[in-house]
Amino acid sequence: MDRKGIILAGGKGTRLYPLTKSISKCILPVYDKPMIYYSLATLMMSGIEDILIISTPDDLENYSNLIGDGNSFGINISYETQPSPDGIAQALIIAEKFLDSHPSALMLGDNIFYGPDLETKLVESSMKNHSTVFSYEVHDPERFGVCEIDNDKRVISLEEKPDKPKSNLAVTGLYFYDSSAPQIAKNIKPSDRGELEITDVNIEYMKSYNLYSEVLDKSYMWIDAGTQESFLVASNYAKKIEDETGMKILCPEEIAFNRGLISSEDLNKAAEDYSNSEYGRYLKRVVSKI
Ligand code: G1P
Repeated sequence: MDRKGIILAGGKGTRLYPLTKSISKCILPVYDKPMIYYSLATLMMSGIEDILIISTPDDLENYSNLIGDGNSFGINISYETQPSPDGIAQALIIAEKFLDSHPSALMLGDNIFYGPDLETKLVESSMKNHSTVFSYEVHDPERFGVCEIDNDKRVISLEEKPDKPKSNLAVTGLYFYDSSAPQIAKNIKPSDRGELEITDVNIEYMKSYNLYSEVLDKSYMWIDAGTQESFLVASNYAKKIEDETGMKILCPEEIAFNRGLISSEDLNKAAEDYSNSEYGRYLKRVVSKI
């Protein structure tokens, strides 16, 4: 599969001020790892090994200090800046050269997905030729992109933050597109809030009958961790699952090892590097189980 990944970790994070005054939101911890690890892990679970991280000119260096070229996760990481937060769809235009006509998976750095069958769902969706959004039933759909689907899972209506939502299905921040996404993004116009809306890209796919939605039922968890409240919910959720199972969720090193992207020596090296932390001790336990 030649799908390439994009993580958008841009924006000023003003909804979290002062937490994000001097640091980008997706560097902040969600329980035991930086938030961006969750989106990296999600794309890696989808089988993606080439990922572009997009952030502000001020923040990009922090991401590259944290993740580097992706070697420790057995993947390739590249970086691009988004000089001003002009909308999610702009990420597709910024990524055009990186994508080089490949299909893409765009993920928002503050979205967290988890569920027992997540990997299967992601891999199956990634293999499809059509474009896929992932939707999740919520009680406050007016805060999100909202879709309606038919019996074949085809998206038949789509609106960004509607006053009167036609369904409770929120469109989450993970989008699998065919190779035409950058071109579509270039042709849309900014919305009333002055942004290139990802929903407008999705509407173009819907109009060409090429947009399907995988509904993540309640066996999955989806959190848009953009507020203090949802940050804490995400941390508590990760802690609860990890306490219950004794396993870390969405741990990129472990996923890399399980997918054969890094060797046991590589994993051991990562464990040694972090030997002073619980994270490192966990990696050590993963190595010793082999
Ligand atoms: C964005 C999208 C929206 C989507 C949401 C998911 O909203 O515009 O369609 O449902 O992400 O997290 P924003 O975070 O810009 O409010």
